[in-house]
Amino acid sequence: MGVFGPLKPLTQANEDGKALAKTLSWPHLMALGIGGIIGTGIYTLTGVGAGLAGPGVILSFALCGIVCACAALAYTEMSTLIPTAGSAYTYTYSALGEILAWIVGWALILEYSLACSTVAVGWSAHLVGWLEQGIGLHLPAALLNGPAAGGIVNLPAVFVSLAVMGLLLIGARESATLNILLVIIKIVALGAFVVLGLPAVQAGHYDPFMPFGFLAHETNGEKSGVMAAAAVVFFAFFGFDAVSTSAEEAKNPGRDLTVGIIGSMALSTIIYMLVAAVAVGALPFKEIADSGEPLPHVLRSLGYPLVASLVGGAAIVALPSVILVMMYGQSRIFFVMARDGLLPSVVARVNAKGSPALITLLTGIFVAIFAGFVPLKKIAELSNAGTLIAFVAVSVSMIVLRIRKPELQRVFKTPVFWLTGGLAIAGCIFIFSSLPKESQIFTLIWMAIGLCFYFAYGRWNSRLRKAR
Ligand code: ALA
Repeated sequence: MGVFGPLKPLTQANEDGKALAKTLSWPHLMALGIGGIIGTGIYTLTGVGAGLAGPGVILSFALCGIVCACAALAYTEMSTLIPTAGSAYTYTYSALGEILAWIVGWALILEYSLACSTVAVGWSAHLVGWLEQGIGLHLPAALLNGPAAGGIVNLPAVFVSLAVMGLLLIGARESATLNILLVIIKIVALGAFVVLGLPAVQAGHYDPFMPFGFLAHETNGEKSGVMAAAAVVFFAFFGFDAVSTSAEEAKNPGRDLTVGIIGSMALSTIIYMLVAAVAVGALPFKEIADSGEPLPHVLRSLGYPLVASLVGGAAIVALPSVILVMMYGQSRIFFVMARDGLLPSVVARVNAKGSPALITLLTGIFVAIFAGFVPLKKIAELSNAGTLIAFVAVSVSMIVLRIRKPELQRVFKTPVFWLTGGLAIAGCIFIFSSLPKESQIFTLIWMAIGLCFYFAYGRWNSRLRKAR
């Protein structure tokens, strides 16, 4: 029993891993990682970030990359130590206690579900841009935007959310294999953007580099500066953690997870640096700030309308893979929480294909509602807030277990664990503090609601508490 309720024994956490079939190996996991990482963050939020930081958005990407790399190392250590579904939630349960685990599980709903919604909205913008610029088809604006942007509902975003949910209901194995193809398309499109955009880069576009300064400062309810942009483009980096939610389904967890998480993280960070530098170097940053599909926009402005359509088309084809990874991760986390007794057991029931069908359905509907009615930047910020909480929890869990249980056999060890873990924790807190006040407050309210649920249901039905 820890200060924050019972601790899940590590042996039990690992034994739990018998329920889902072991069908995935490292190419699947790396593709799942990149599938989760490269998405709306680079394809759409590069523009939002440029509007908040100017060319300094390159620095925002770099800072987030460093923080996420540190967190990725902690995730790898924890996911190889506890290769069972549930990710940050399960690690926290074993290292810090049930109450904190619940809080993390609740924060993961923001991370995973709202990431799906964010990507769905980004996808919608690319579809609309492609239809309008590519084939001259204009859809009614009221059906392309939520109420905050003067419309009724973002219908394409709702559609893609529900379509991916259907794919997941068919089964994880098929989805993961399809994902590999989509990942290749996404990387080729970003490569084409860099190759064509690079010759157009002008040094003058990088000057002034930080027109809004470094630290986030609020004016008229909006924060700007390099850190304010970091708090938004942070979205581009997570997704690698979804790999660890599939730990239970990995054939050889030690090798598969290490290659899957670190490999996908490193490759994506390099690609982002290049894309961001080319995007703000090829055009004045103000010109991309307002575009919902900044990369095709840059290419069109440079006189490559056909390639612009192809890159936009690649986003349309491939962004759903991010939703796939995130929705998959979300359903597995709910599944494990229900198996632990913290959510009603009906949630954990798996169908003939071994997928938790009911929870996938509920997640899909939740995702579609946010995608249809809430603006992109807002959902991205809330998703980031949930992720930052999870990253802090995983880093703290890694450090606590190193100190409390140094004797455990670790397949992967975070280098200089206290420094790497400390950097991840400090970096995440810094990024969280750079979010707009409104998003910080919403997150705290969300957490408070979660705690009410815990004390009303989870605490009384917890499998660990009942067994004591
Ligand atoms: N990192 C993912 C994206 O950018 C969530 O879409």
